[in-house]
Amino acid sequence: MFPTDQFQRPMRDLRISVTDRCNFRCTYCMPADVFDDHYQFLPHSDLLTFEEIDRIARIAVKMGVVKLRITGGEPLVRKGIDQLIGMLNQIPGVNDIAMTSNGVLLPQLAEQLRDAGLKRISVSLDTLDDTVFRQMNGNRSDVDQVIAGIQAAERAGLTPIKINAVIKRGVNDHTVVDLARFCKERGYTLRFIEYMDVGTRNGWRMEDVFTAREIIERIDAVMPLEPIDSGYFGEVAERWRYRDGSGEIGLIASVTQPFCGTCTRLRVSPKGSLYTCLFAQHGISLRDPMRAGASDDEITALMQRVWTQRADRYSEIRTSETARQSKIEMNYIGG
Ligand code: GTP
Ligand code: 5AD
Ligand code: SF4
Ligand code: SF4
Repeated sequence: MFPTDQFQRPMRDLRISVTDRCNFRCTYCMPADVFDDHYQFLPHSDLLTFEEIDRIARIAVKMGVVKLRITGGEPLVRKGIDQLIGMLNQIPGVNDIAMTSNGVLLPQLAEQLRDAGLKRISVSLDTLDDTVFRQMNGNRSDVDQVIAGIQAAERAGLTPIKINAVIKRGVNDHTVVDLARFCKERGYTLRFIEYMDVGTRNGWRMEDVFTAREIIERIDAVMPLEPIDSGYFGEVAERWRYRDGSGEIGLIASVTQPFCGTCTRLRVSPKGSLYTCLFAQHGISLRDPMRAGASDDEITALMQRVWTQRADRYSEIRTSETARQSKIEMNYIGG
């Protein structure tokens, strides 16, 4: 029997963060004044090995997980990441392996990732305006570098390509139509993400959230849209298609339209702790018992306990107080 949590939600997706490092410094995730030259990232010995990640994934699949997503930080800065994909690709019962990346290392790595068994990729790109983009990513990359990465992924067949864009009021909201047009013309599925209060270091304020509703209105005024049904149980994006039949967009409205009721996601941190919510305050270490010699049955029992006790619904109960609470950071737990 597969475990369900306190709200009868099954465990379907395992999101694995493979590093806390990133070559960007997005203001909403790793603001450069916090993540400066002195910032202490995890030493390599603290990270789960690929064998440990593979072991956790195999156990999770026996508990009902069918989808794996590799995140970070930036997953492509973890050396040999294609080897991990190759290992995960051998697990029977996994029907989807995806990755979330900022794209800049894809020109070097897309083909290796495809050969190792990666099926598809989501690339983050918040705007097509270079000045705005540099301002948002801590001056680490221009738009063309990311587009080169997206094209490399496309050539390698890592499709369908999804583009994730976080929209902050007064920062990049004036560029949503341009980005939508670009993705529509190229057949990429663009998903807009409401700016969230993940972690505590980004100084989140409700006033900075440009809402899904506002995004729809902006785009619909120029390129008419209509809503469509969700693709699968628990999909986080609300889907809309262009009325002219030329593709679709998604809205991930965790702030204004929470989707905790169908949340089937379990997250593993780079250090091997389990987190049952993106906004969790504490994790449960799997690495420590694994390194102390725990058997698969013991790890399974621990994971069962974590999932069956789970009662997270952060986005449904968010207040200005909870937004200020100490929480796990996005670069550590992934999107
Ligand atoms: P597909 O498998 O392509 O449908 O992707 P997905 O829906 O799992 O989306 P993806 O992993 O690309 O997540 C997109 C963004 O949605 C993340 O970067 C987060 O910002 C947000 N997100 C994903 N899962 C959750 C969640 O459980 N809670 C909240 N609040 N936000 C989430
Ligand atoms: N709010 C919304 N989305 C975020 N991401 C990172 N931090 C935030 C935040 N505070 C997104 C990135 C990327 C994914 C990993 O998570 O843009 O698409
Ligand atoms: Fe890096 Fe992604 Fe965080 Fe930006 S959002 S700093 S690209 S991990
Ligand atoms: Fe799941 Fe937590 Fe996001 Fe709600 S806020 S959808 S419980 S990860």
